[in-house]
Amino acid sequence: MSRASAPGKIILFGEHAVVYGRPALAVPVMQVHADVDVADGSRPGVWIHAPDVDLHAELSSLPSDHPLGAAARLFFSRFGVSPPPLEIHISSSIPVASGLGSGAAVTVALLRALSSALQHPLSAEETNSLAYEIEKLHHGAPSGIDNTVVTYAKPVYFVRGQPVETFKVGAPFTLVIADTGVAAPTRESVGDVRRLWEADRPRWEKVFDAVGEIVRTAKAKIEKGEWRALGALMDSNHSLLQRLAVSSPELDRLVESAREAGALGAKLSGGGRGGNMIALVEKADAPTAAEALKFAGAKRTIVTEVV
Ligand code: PMV
Repeated sequence: MSRASAPGKIILFGEHAVVYGRPALAVPVMQVHADVDVADGSRPGVWIHAPDVDLHAELSSLPSDHPLGAAARLFFSRFGVSPPPLEIHISSSIPVASGLGSGAAVTVALLRALSSALQHPLSAEETNSLAYEIEKLHHGAPSGIDNTVVTYAKPVYFVRGQPVETFKVGAPFTLVIADTGVAAPTRESVGDVRRLWEADRPRWEKVFDAVGEIVRTAKAKIEKGEWRALGALMDSNHSLLQRLAVSSPELDRLVESAREAGALGAKLSGGGRGGNMIALVEKADAPTAAEALKFAGAKRTIVTEVV
């Protein structure tokens, strides 16, 4: 049997503006992951079991735009192999449609488990580019940030269309991630931002420039170990995301309550409208901040250290 895993991810700065060519920073979240087992089958066909989404199906019965089926087919066609009988088991602790990269993580883990089971090595670059093809099924026109961070499992400074740039964290820092519990498809918020932009490009280009500036400053601060400076930058980035109309009452409530509970800064993370927010805290304050976020309505919290 072959087994592979891939972590979740969170965007620290730069979501949405990244679709318009500005940089973004994202980091892996090792506390949650997708796990895939591939075993030889005793019946014909490639059987995919994903009990989390109640899926038990033979590959040929899945529609062409089904992300799990598409990922397996893409792998087989990339190597020109007709697959032997296989039983594929997929599980994930990453909440779906909440900005934690669950789709990308499942794809990357699946590609790697198939690569090892069928002994067709895949480089990180190839894994990343195949996973990007599948991301398009999830998100329409994704920037590629999710598959990149999940594939490399390192902090990434991401600019669409440019070579992958990982970066070093000068001193570790702690984030509390809190889930609004509202599932919000990224495709929709990305589409709404596009409509705003199309109606008044100069106005929104300025907002994207301001986000890009925050991202560059944040990267420099992280590299120097001056992570406390990220708090104010998170607050500014959140305000710009509010202007882009991708926040929501639930997200704003969690962001406010994190600040009241002593967080150094807080913002929504990912596509917005729902999904997750992040709060920067002193390590010792993380449990208190997580409690405050639960009290303010968070359905789940994750404390993670960015290293
Ligand atoms: O919701 P997430 O974490 O998958 O992130 C979406 C990030 C966006 O910038 C809004 C879209 C993208 O493709 O980069």
